[in-house]
Amino acid sequence: MNHYHITSEEQYRKAYKESVKNPADFWSDIATNFKWRKKWDSVLEYDFSIPEIAWFKGAQLNITENCIDRHLPERGTKTALLFEPNNPNEPAQHITYQELHDKVCQMANVLKQKGVKKGDRICLYLPMIPELAIAILACARIGAIHSVVFAGFSAVALAARINDSNCSIVITSDGAFRGNKTINLKEIVDKALQECKSVRTVLLVNRINNNCSITDGRDEWLQPLLDTAETSCVPEIMNAEDPLFILYTSGSTGTPKGMVHTTAGYMVYSAFTFKNVFQYEEDDVYWCTADIGWITGHSYIVYGPLANGATSVLFEGVPSYPDYGRFWEIVQKHAVTLFYTAPTAIRALAKQGKEWTEKYNLSSLKTLGSVGEPINEEAWEWYDDHVGKNRCPIVDTWWQTETGGILISSLAGVTKQIPTFATLPMPGIQPCLMDDNGTEISFWKAEGRLCIKFPWPSIARTIWGNHERYKNTYFTAYTNTYFTGDGALRDADGNYRITGRVDDVVIVSGHNLGTAPIEDAINEHPMVAESALVGFPHDIKGNALYGFVTLKGGEGTAALKKEINALISEKIGPIAKLDKIQFTSGLPKTRSGKIMRRILRKIATNEIDALGDISTLLNPEVVEQIISEKK
Ligand code: WTA
Repeated sequence: MNHYHITSEEQYRKAYKESVKNPADFWSDIATNFKWRKKWDSVLEYDFSIPEIAWFKGAQLNITENCIDRHLPERGTKTALLFEPNNPNEPAQHITYQELHDKVCQMANVLKQKGVKKGDRICLYLPMIPELAIAILACARIGAIHSVVFAGFSAVALAARINDSNCSIVITSDGAFRGNKTINLKEIVDKALQECKSVRTVLLVNRINNNCSITDGRDEWLQPLLDTAETSCVPEIMNAEDPLFILYTSGSTGTPKGMVHTTAGYMVYSAFTFKNVFQYEEDDVYWCTADIGWITGHSYIVYGPLANGATSVLFEGVPSYPDYGRFWEIVQKHAVTLFYTAPTAIRALAKQGKEWTEKYNLSSLKTLGSVGEPINEEAWEWYDDHVGKNRCPIVDTWWQTETGGILISSLAGVTKQIPTFATLPMPGIQPCLMDDNGTEISFWKAEGRLCIKFPWPSIARTIWGNHERYKNTYFTAYTNTYFTGDGALRDADGNYRITGRVDDVVIVSGHNLGTAPIEDAINEHPMVAESALVGFPHDIKGNALYGFVTLKGGEGTAALKKEINALISEKIGPIAKLDKIQFTSGLPKTRSGKIMRRILRKIATNEIDALGDISTLLNPEVVEQIISEKK
């Protein structure tokens, strides 16, 4: 039986059982819903010890044929992308599947003219405008590997990402509109490119009409090139395991990890989960508020929805502009049916009171989704009461950049929802909990480290240029198992509740921030000797960052705090700024000199009674001092 659309709890149970008993049959059935140029020779070959994972080996396809061309006969005039600009007075754009086809082909032809070949890396540093989605698809059309860098990252962070994967072309814009701000993206790119030797061409979208500087021989406006380009482009035939994109995520050391996703498995899984988690139907208007610069935007604004022939809303702005009613105004204006956002946005909007949700007609909504961080009970209730009016199922979707698609979530209105629980694994996903000794916990009701025992089609295949790091980060903590970095609780019925990261990653406003690169940035300040960062609870952001900083000399003034945050903005981006900075005379360390972040985390969260034994530290006296000086 083909389980592409699961419509009852009973069918979910059956599909799940089959997917575990016979993964190859299960996924080859699902894969028949797509357009292949050549069928696969084997469904899955893998060995987690190397690790090597191949899905649909031998198959050939082009993902854009699946996301665009195959819809044209029936959906040529249907809106594929619905663009809502930052400024509510600027008209929305409805880009049909036929128009999307033509625009993607034009952009693909421009890239080809610029010498781009299959396998080349193209960096996209763009605001949330249609050109970003189009550029992604244009790369995929010709087999180039896109590397989208979130346009909130600084020049230094952008340069590091461009250099890591040796991108030859950057597609960017003169600037970006964001709420009442205008951001000069091109200036950031110019600064970054001083450090990037591999980039030979910069293609520029004119978004804000400013007179940005143009470097002759390198920079070119995109529109004139697009205007003369052909609206058809033969898709490059890709092998199932050819890389589709690189997306950087933070890690426990300074350098970001370029997660590599490949073509066939990623397509099948992102499309399958989109369909089932949201229970997508043909007439839905679907809106995911994430930025395409993160994995959520890749899988659930672009690829997953388009592979299903959906209408996907792309919003350029922010929830607070021109006022706190903007999200709800957009829901009303476009009669959005499926709405997917992050807990941090829900908490920020809940704080503004219910007048905003009441001002607009939200009756089009059918399903609500949450992603990016644990959703607390209060935020869940507010979302349910004021947005869903207690009649829309809420799906709490747990997943990661590395997983490519949603791994644990309820299916809207089909399987049971439990506030604060992501609930049950998708078909094909085999989660398990590990105890402190590294042994799998065999009983249901338990808490432990969340791992996945078996590959799924959209698991990242490697870290660009560093397979060893991929292996060490995800496959060495436990044998033959993917380690997620998250902790989780499981109830007696097998429902999962994610409790948060168990490593040095802090999720701030749903953004995945590694502490190491931020500490590296702080340590570059000439007055700073050492620093350690931890997360602490924040009522809107979920977590905020607390920095403990020791100085080489001089005084820890308010001005110095500002300088430190300015340095972080410059090296990484404003999203990584610290909420609290405490200057201390020392940091707690083990006898071997390792900073004990666990203790600092307890201090930052005011769990001073739970510090545990500190007598084995090299310098237990600093702990007392840090506690007494904490404001
Ligand atoms: C966290 C975002 C609880 C988790 C898709 C994970 C969540 C990290 C949830 C990945 C959720 C994501 N409930 N925690 N529903 N969704 N997380 O790579 O800690 O940006 O490991 O991917 O976000 O963040 P990333």
